[in-house]
Amino acid sequence: MADAFEIRGGRALKGILEVGGAKNAALPIFVATLIEKGTYHLNNVPDLMDIATLTELLKSLGLEVEKTDKNSYKIINNGLTNLTASYDLVKKMRASFLVMGAMLAHSNNAIVSLPGGCAIGARPVDLHLKGFEKLGVEIEIEHGYVKGTATELKGGEVILDFPSVGATQNIIMAAVKAKGVSVLENVAREPEVVDLCNFLISMGAKIEGVGTGKLTITGVEKLVPGTYSIMPDRIVAGTFIIAAIMFEGTIEVEGVVAEDSSSFLAKLKEMGVQYDITGQRLKILSKLSELKPVKVTTMPHPGFPTDLQSPMMTLMCLVTGNSEIKETIFENRFMHVSELNRMGAKIDIDGSNAHIKGIKEFSSAEVMASDLRAGASLVLAGLKAKETTTVNRIYHVDRGYENLVEKLVGIGADIKRIKI
Ligand code: UD1
Repeated sequence: MADAFEIRGGRALKGILEVGGAKNAALPIFVATLIEKGTYHLNNVPDLMDIATLTELLKSLGLEVEKTDKNSYKIINNGLTNLTASYDLVKKMRASFLVMGAMLAHSNNAIVSLPGGCAIGARPVDLHLKGFEKLGVEIEIEHGYVKGTATELKGGEVILDFPSVGATQNIIMAAVKAKGVSVLENVAREPEVVDLCNFLISMGAKIEGVGTGKLTITGVEKLVPGTYSIMPDRIVAGTFIIAAIMFEGTIEVEGVVAEDSSSFLAKLKEMGVQYDITGQRLKILSKLSELKPVKVTTMPHPGFPTDLQSPMMTLMCLVTGNSEIKETIFENRFMHVSELNRMGAKIDIDGSNAHIKGIKEFSSAEVMASDLRAGASLVLAGLKAKETTTVNRIYHVDRGYENLVEKLVGIGADIKRIKI
């Protein structure tokens, strides 16, 4: 038996959707507690399956991880008791590979299972490994595991071939205690990378150029653990904003950090979406019928985020005319298209381009979430479709959207979790 969402769509929704802490910031920050001995207090952590998965991995390496309330954790690092991250734990979530840089920083040694394939593309880790080598780590791959060894980590110069988020985070963690200065170029500028840097800086790390494509990191002997609050989730915010547009202003979104979502908000403006932001509360002022078709190309930050590509596609389906999406970050990230088409969408794929022809309304259907964000796009469509939509394989959605059912029920949606 697996969990599914049953949604009776077409209800009028009204109220406030609150955005919680960012999964993609919380994961690397949790991992970074491997670097230095001491006690950490992390707040605004989203209550999600991925955090529970990472907790198991961190415990297997010797950390004490205690959930002190729904969104807070206390992590105690008394030194690592195990330097091998096992296949069983790493295969569940690709972000687990981030433990490599932190373990190297802690012990100069690490053995981490290769993460393996993933539904949205091959997603290799070559850039992570090349970066470690530049910091003096010898890398060997044996029996599906990456073994990294060094007598000591040394500052080095790393120029990434592509601004990979994970590679940037992994190399930063390896560099903060390396001897000397590391210069990292063409790095990812995503807000979640900035949050990791801010966390490390709060512990005494010396990182210059935060938020730019070039980071200069001067290794320090020791970091001093403390308390940190995770940034709000800009992808959840974007998903909720799309719901607010689809429901023409009756939903407000709390927890929108405009500068983290600038390219997304700019694209909405180009579509003709009008909104008002007061503090972190966003309210939509326009009607769906006023929106114009646009072209979206996913890009590394500050470009349009690939994680909002599928929710954006759901919105584009309801815009009169021909919209277009070009996905440049991941291959195979159009698996939601066939499911949206089962709900009446008119989307054609040609390579990495999706051509979306506007429709009047979605028709309910039984569909399947192929990944986390694809699942969100189907839930959005289901909320608008009259009659009952069943979204299968929602364990994907549970990985990234905290209390989604409760939040949607709170604004009047008829959605429940069922076993089928
Ligand atoms: C992170 C996010 C994910 C988001 C993605 C892009 C987390 C936990 N996940 O994933 O939600 O969709 O950024 O914004 O934060 N690549 C290589 N070699 C490497 C590393 C990456 O070729 O060594 C390629 C990947 O296959 C992919 C592209 O680079 O095509 C982007 O990947 P990357 O930025 O590393 O994404 P993740 O860190 O895995």
